[in-house]
Amino acid sequence: MIELKEVSKTYTQGIKNIPVLHNISISIKLGEFVSIMGPSGSGKSTLLNLIGGIDQPTSGEIFINSKPLHGIKDDELTLIRRKHVGYIFQFFNLLPILSAMENVGLPLLLEGIPLSKIKSKVETLLQKVGLEGRMEHRPEQLSGGEMQRVAIARSLITDPEVLLADEPTGNLDSRSSEEIFNMLKKLNAEGQTIIMVTHDSKAADCGTRLITIKDGFLASDKKLKEVRA
Ligand SMILES: Nc1ncnc2c1ncn2[C@@H]1O[C@H](COP(=O)(O)OP(=O)(O)O)[C@@H](O)[C@H]1O
Ligand SMILES: [Mg+2]
Repeated sequence: MIELKEVSKTYTQGIKNIPVLHNISISIKLGEFVSIMGPSGSGKSTLLNLIGGIDQPTSGEIFINSKPLHGIKDDELTLIRRKHVGYIFQFFNLLPILSAMENVGLPLLLEGIPLSKIKSKVETLLQKVGLEGRMEHRPEQLSGGEMQRVAIARSLITDPEVLLADEPTGNLDSRSSEEIFNMLKKLNAEGQTIIMVTHDSKAADCGTRLITIKDGFLASDKKLKEVRA
């Protein structure tokens, strides 16, 4: 469902070229839980951003469900991204003035869908991440682990085909981290395709596949578990 063919990325800063990814080819199937590991600065976030349609490759091809993500206009890319991809980040990226419910509903509210229409879906998702008692809380009234659970619920509101997580536990203590990993594992067991960048070697074990990136090259790619059909 996700296909990268000979993908390279070079950033330009002034007259300087900064090559970051080199000839990456990966194919990810529906239902996989892929962990991506590698040293800081090796290009993991860049890779995730290319898969998520946040950025475009300098060369090579990327397809989601056979639709190209390369060489298309920015507004087309935005539409594909909204439809197919959910994202969670190290620093949660919640809006501080909104309640948990409003944060979760935001991707759809921004499309002009009224809260009354999506309220039950928002509630169901917050229940799913164990936050039925925190619906009206603002981010500052929540713990780090709870904020990340709100972010997970938000990422699922559009029923994304793939959930991308960039160091989702990088800002959490070990207990909250475990909670988040278990939640992602459960989502994957229910069929959610997940690609997660992480520093935590324990976390990488929750995936069905482990990819390592080194200096912008694909260093290894190994299967850890059978994907449940
Ligand atoms: N927008 C950008 N412009 C220039 N260089 C960038 C940009 N984003 C990332 N880089 C550089 O690309 C390299 C890889 O970054 P990144 O993908 O964030 O690595 P990782 O997530 O593995 O730590 C780093 O050297 C970083 O400085
Ligand atoms: Mg990164």
